[in-house]
Amino acid sequence: MYARLWCVCLAAVSAMAAEPPIVNDCILIGGEQKSASEQSLLQRLAPLKHKRFEATVQEGTDSYTYTFEVCGRVDNSSKSSNEGLVQNETASAKTTVIGRINDTHIINGTDWILLVYKSGDKYDSHCDKESRKAMIMISCNKNTLADGFMIISEERQKSNDCFYLFEMDSSVACPAEESHLSVGSILLIVFAVLIALYIIGGFLYQRFVVGAKGMEQFPNFTFWQEFGNLVADGCDFVCRSQPRSSETAYRGVGDDQLGEEPEERDDHLLPM
Ligand SMILES: *[C@@H]1O[C@H](CO)[C@@H](O)[C@H](O)[C@H]1NC(C)=O
Ligand SMILES: *[C@@H]1O[C@H](CO)[C@@H](O)[C@H](O)[C@H]1NC(C)=O
Ligand SMILES: *[C@@H]1O[C@H](CO)[C@@H](O)[C@H](O)[C@H]1NC(C)=O
Repeated sequence: MYARLWCVCLAAVSAMAAEPPIVNDCILIGGEQKSASEQSLLQRLAPLKHKRFEATVQEGTDSYTYTFEVCGRVDNSSKSSNEGLVQNETASAKTTVIGRINDTHIINGTDWILLVYKSGDKYDSHCDKESRKAMIMISCNKNTLADGFMIISEERQKSNDCFYLFEMDSSVACPAEESHLSVGSILLIVFAVLIALYIIGGFLYQRFVVGAKGMEQFPNFTFWQEFGNLVADGCDFVCRSQPRSSETAYRGVGDDQLGEEPEERDDHLLPM
């Protein structure tokens, strides 16, 4: 019995410790030397894997659509070149890759995750003709898995390190909920549950197995009765300022027919 319980426990623990499916497709830089923190952070994006987001902006007469996929290729055909975020110019249907998933970088803070795709198509004339880069700021929002993808700005006035900046809301960026129960309150709850089990179990046992009726159904009734008497005695002994005998004596004088009864009760309560 205990061995089987132990096995079940062990299985549950090992299932919890098992790695969640890794976001394989986002390729972090470093080969064997991949940063452990980047890898663990990438795990948190797993619920968003292969989700596709679009944002359209109007710039003068041109309109651009940005398509973003979390650790997935926007063009999933065979001629895909690992593009994770692409820009489509609506009029000319010209496609420019902003960032690729085989050059992924990821950092986080308390309530945000910044996903960076580098190795995009090269600028024609700006930014020293370097590769384009997409930065997607994912902010904590408990109410949505993923929403509100949009472009914030395109920085290409610098001589290098230009970027496209996007933002998005997601619950995966939220800090892990801490348990609000302290050790003390957990112990209290366990204690209360044990008492409830004792009373209910004892009641059922007394009623159906022993066949008790009325107050006798209360588990260990006589024990608790005696316990109550003992406590009362203790209280009597500690708290009472005048000896109890004076009270009975007074009663005995005032009331003849009741004179016997309290004495009898006292004998039972205080066997001294
Ligand atoms: C490729 O993408 C299209 C459109 O997003 C989708 O319908 C299709 O199932 C995808 N194919 C594969 C092999 O993932
Ligand atoms: C990513 O993939 C593209 C196309 O498949 C390739 O040209 C590029 O060199 C790769 N980048 C890295 C950093 O591996
Ligand atoms: C960043 O993410 C890691 C992995 O999920 C987590 O352990 C760490 O606490 C996060 N950093 C901050 C500042 O919240």
